[in-house]
Amino acid sequence: MQKDFKNKVVFSAAQPSGVLHLGNYLGAIKQWVELQNKHKCVFSIVDYHAMTVYQEPKKLREKILETAMIYLAAGINPEKSTIFIQSDVSEHTELAWILNTIAKIPELELMTQFKDKAKRFRSKVNVGLFNYPVLMAADILLYKTDFVPVGEDQKQHVELARTLARRFNNLYGDIFVVPQAIIRKEGARIMGLDDPLKKMSKSAKSPANYIALTDEPNLIKEKIKRAVTDSGKEVIYNKEKKPGISNLLEIYSLASGKTIKQLEKEYEGKNYGEFKKDVGEAVVGFLEPFQKDLKKLKENPDKVRKILQSGAEKAKLIAAKTMQEVKKAVGINY
Ligand code: TYM
Repeated sequence: MQKDFKNKVVFSAAQPSGVLHLGNYLGAIKQWVELQNKHKCVFSIVDYHAMTVYQEPKKLREKILETAMIYLAAGINPEKSTIFIQSDVSEHTELAWILNTIAKIPELELMTQFKDKAKRFRSKVNVGLFNYPVLMAADILLYKTDFVPVGEDQKQHVELARTLARRFNNLYGDIFVVPQAIIRKEGARIMGLDDPLKKMSKSAKSPANYIALTDEPNLIKEKIKRAVTDSGKEVIYNKEKKPGISNLLEIYSLASGKTIKQLEKEYEGKNYGEFKKDVGEAVVGFLEPFQKDLKKLKENPDKVRKILQSGAEKAKLIAAKTMQEVKKAVGINY
């Protein structure tokens, strides 16, 4: 299916689990905000995904709403984009079932995120966690998505969505668009502040790993001050030799709009202490308008609920149409 540029569809999502952090913002949400001016954008809060690791029900309910507020405070505009909760549109799980029938077990066994989580939550590994990339493929394919803006860690999952789209189309006819991941060069993999060799993660044990989007300014500055850096004293970008400083440079660059080259120049001859202080201030400044809006939204949850409801209605219209086509193609509606 050929679409003109304005009609390209963008789909992306985040899980309402753990703590949404600066990596989620810089790696994904920041691009979403920019893309909504160019394309038809659909953004979901994927609660079924979050359930693949046990969530306390009351907390999950709160997190779902908070994640929606984070999208809005970051600048996702409900007049331009569709924002909805995954479980409000039942076609997601319906399509996931059909895609399950063409996904292969060894394919899913290759997924790095599954392998990582399976190691960490050994006693809790459930079938949902294994199966999760198929649900993610359903999320994407339902909307005939062209572009999927994500961080580096989701690349493999988008690849699987591409494989399943092609496989389905070969078996049953041309129903799905083969989607393409959009991964930024900078910010696609923000690393943990306490360990710059591992990505910043929602489920990290220590809060020193991440900057939560809701962290207070002083805490943000403190966390950056304490971030693990490398031996030596030069502020230069070299991911292999200086993973800690390189991570902070990436964060600083995205938060300030300055290029890494500019920053390297600015900090020639200066020490890590000065540099970290300024990174902290840049991040605080960058998050300030977002945090202000988030506070306001938290005072008006009903407004957010309404946005989600109307988003679900809009999403449902597209999802139901695709599901009809899928059912017809596979021979289960008559
Ligand atoms: P999730 O909720 O883990 O993360 C949301 C988005 O944030 C990106 N991200 C990062 N980017 C840079 N540095 C980091 N340290 C970092 N950590 C996370 C993720 O790549 C993601 O883009 N499976 C997805 C949610 C999902 C989805 C989808 C995404 C479900 N269905 C369909 C796109 C399309 C996930 O767990 O993201």
